[in-house]
Amino acid sequence: MAAPKVLVTRPISQLALDKIAASCDMDLWADELPPPREALLQRIRGCDGILSLLTDRIDAEVMDASLCLRVIANYAVGYDNIDLAAADERRIQVGNTPGVLTETTADLAFALLLAAARRIAEADRYTRSGEWRTWGPRLLLGQDVHHATLGLVGFGRIGREMAKRARGFDMTVQYFDTTRNEEAEMQLGARRVDLDMLLATSDFVSVHVPLNEATRHLIGEREIGLMKSTAILINTSRGPVVDQQALYRALQDGAIAGAGLDVFEREPIPADDPLLALDNVVVTPHIGSASVATRTKMALMAAENLIEGVNCRPIPYKVNPEIDSDFRCCGLDCGE
Ligand code: DGY
Repeated sequence: MAAPKVLVTRPISQLALDKIAASCDMDLWADELPPPREALLQRIRGCDGILSLLTDRIDAEVMDASLCLRVIANYAVGYDNIDLAAADERRIQVGNTPGVLTETTADLAFALLLAAARRIAEADRYTRSGEWRTWGPRLLLGQDVHHATLGLVGFGRIGREMAKRARGFDMTVQYFDTTRNEEAEMQLGARRVDLDMLLATSDFVSVHVPLNEATRHLIGEREIGLMKSTAILINTSRGPVVDQQALYRALQDGAIAGAGLDVFEREPIPADDPLLALDNVVVTPHIGSASVATRTKMALMAAENLIEGVNCRPIPYKVNPEIDSDFRCCGLDCGE
């Protein structure tokens, strides 16, 4: 029997690639940039599985380019790049990489929080610039993190890890989430409030929700308008959860004090975007999960999803459990 054919849309950990290549006929898109749409549509033809990245839009057209596609293994915990309804219709299993990047992403969110509060990026630029003439009582004054109030928008895995970190800084932690988690509230000393209350009373607001139709622009002009003028917004989830235009205006007008952003409405953010000209914004290029160990674990999980899926077995980290035992499987004519 021929080995299942799979497309991997970018070089990932060699360990995972070796695992895939050992049992599959692997086509690796070896470029550092994502495959352009036409290339993706062409290369997926005849594939039983795809290991995709968040930069690949996997919609009905892509799915229909291979009639035997059985599994989409996304190398990310977020899967807003995949049309889940289209996958469901076609009985294709879709997998992600939950859990392994939780702490790494919370570390980055907290780093951005500290950096924005204490103006680290601005201070770094200043120190290198040659402008530094003396120790100054008014030089680069920032906000205290210790004993401040942290508002978490979303109290899932990453939000709760933020709460843990905040405890070490003696912060007061409040959260907004559609569901209440009393056990975590007790463990982490967090209290649930409504979104408006959270925005109006937090010194730091950190966003940890997935992107979907309910969360797109969840933090819009009205919501930003509720924040304290001294407050700082952190976003490490998905750019479109925050209305970036509204955020820009608030930062420019001093309606809020700063922001730490790892994600943007358009990625990469264009170098001439006015947001990047603001000193009160700290930015990173969507690197929340970017540690060597975490990226290796993500690659291995995605590989496991891929291999199980192409072999017509239920995948271990599935985001569409509604596709239970009757998923699309062997014996299909790939149309090749
Ligand atoms: C994810 O996994 O969704 C992150 O955005 C990238 O690791």
